[in-house]
Amino acid sequence: MGTEKSEISLMTPYNLGKFNLSHRVVLAPLTRQRSYHNVPQPHAILYYSQRTTKGGLLISEATGVSDTAQGYPDTPGIWTKEQVEAWKPIVEAVHAKGGVFFCQIWHVGRVSNFGFQPNGQAPVSSTDKGLKSQIRANGVDVAEFSPPRRLRTDEIPEIVNDFRVAARNAMEAGFDGVEIHGAHGYLVDQFMKDQVNDRTDQYGGSLENRCRFPLEIVEALVDEIGADKVGIRLSPFASYMDSGDSNPEALGLYMAESLNKYGILYCHMVEPRMKTVGEKCQTHQSLLPIRKAFKGTFMVAGGYDREDGNKAIANNNADLVVYGRLFLANPDLPRRFELNAPLNKYNRETFYISDPVLGYTDYPFLESIAQISN
Ligand SMILES: Cc1cc2nc3c(=O)[nH]c(=O)nc-3n(C[C@H](O)[C@H](O)[C@H](O)COP(=O)(O)O)c2cc1C
Repeated sequence: MGTEKSEISLMTPYNLGKFNLSHRVVLAPLTRQRSYHNVPQPHAILYYSQRTTKGGLLISEATGVSDTAQGYPDTPGIWTKEQVEAWKPIVEAVHAKGGVFFCQIWHVGRVSNFGFQPNGQAPVSSTDKGLKSQIRANGVDVAEFSPPRRLRTDEIPEIVNDFRVAARNAMEAGFDGVEIHGAHGYLVDQFMKDQVNDRTDQYGGSLENRCRFPLEIVEALVDEIGADKVGIRLSPFASYMDSGDSNPEALGLYMAESLNKYGILYCHMVEPRMKTVGEKCQTHQSLLPIRKAFKGTFMVAGGYDREDGNKAIANNNADLVVYGRLFLANPDLPRRFELNAPLNKYNRETFYISDPVLGYTDYPFLESIAQISN
């Protein structure tokens, strides 16, 4: 096992606004479907604290802003008092180890069905175009979607307000800030992408109109909790959940430039090579023009390993690198990168099961592997 310590760019400190990070390896938002009945559970205390380092940044799994926001079993929410209280000990555990913890807030929009909706109503979206059934990430289950109901223009401020209240609740739960989930074909993305949004009001048509909803959310959050605590995740190049765009470069640039006006803390972009959440592909498209346009902290995600993450930092293509599957399977990922130690392999089959331990908190640390092999 390589245990040589070497100075690598990924392990250098970085000031994320007022947060003094000790390294650049960020925990990606990862849905784990272990928050029974949408309430975070005590087993998440161990899960997140295992992945906490002093001065490390963690982003929580996607967390629903309201009872219409849900589309997957047992994903957490942050719209009730009970949910806020349940998050508190999890956030406290991360803080006790010196971590910085942002809450990713989302609304799935049309990626849902009657079964997840209050009173069995239709999911809401920018459109009334439905989604085809899809094989779930485990490769076995089929996700069924119900035809969505297009939000009326006068209902949109209510959804913006749900995001505002969720951000307020996240601060009440102790989080250091909030990340708007504007990626991967969920509600915010359903407004931005021209292959989904077919509205004719001020929220559809031109780039400016399609980006109005996300920017209204940004504005509400900046007003509610302060720009220094707001980040956003975007995936202009992805077409996950039938949410492609005819000009992703223009969309990404328009958002970066518009976000500059609000001075938010960070922009977190998914790499063009991630056309879907789990598969890397070859592409000539690049985030560099967007990186150059955005004035705040720029985070990148999608298919990174130690080597190319290091390069991204060394070449100044990003300020922070976000790791999903590798961090899921390696609770001590920053340390392994520092030591250039071998990595545990992730097991897709346990990504989304409801077991409170299996595939969740039982991935071994380097120390325990060393003990077993001694
Ligand atoms: C199990 C799993 C759950 C995920 N959940 C979320 C989520 O809640 N929010 C989100 O923005 N992305 C989510 N993603 C996408 C990851 O954050 C990340 O962008 C993706 O895995 C690609 O990065 P990686 O190659 O480092 O894994 C999820 C991915 C996986 C594998």
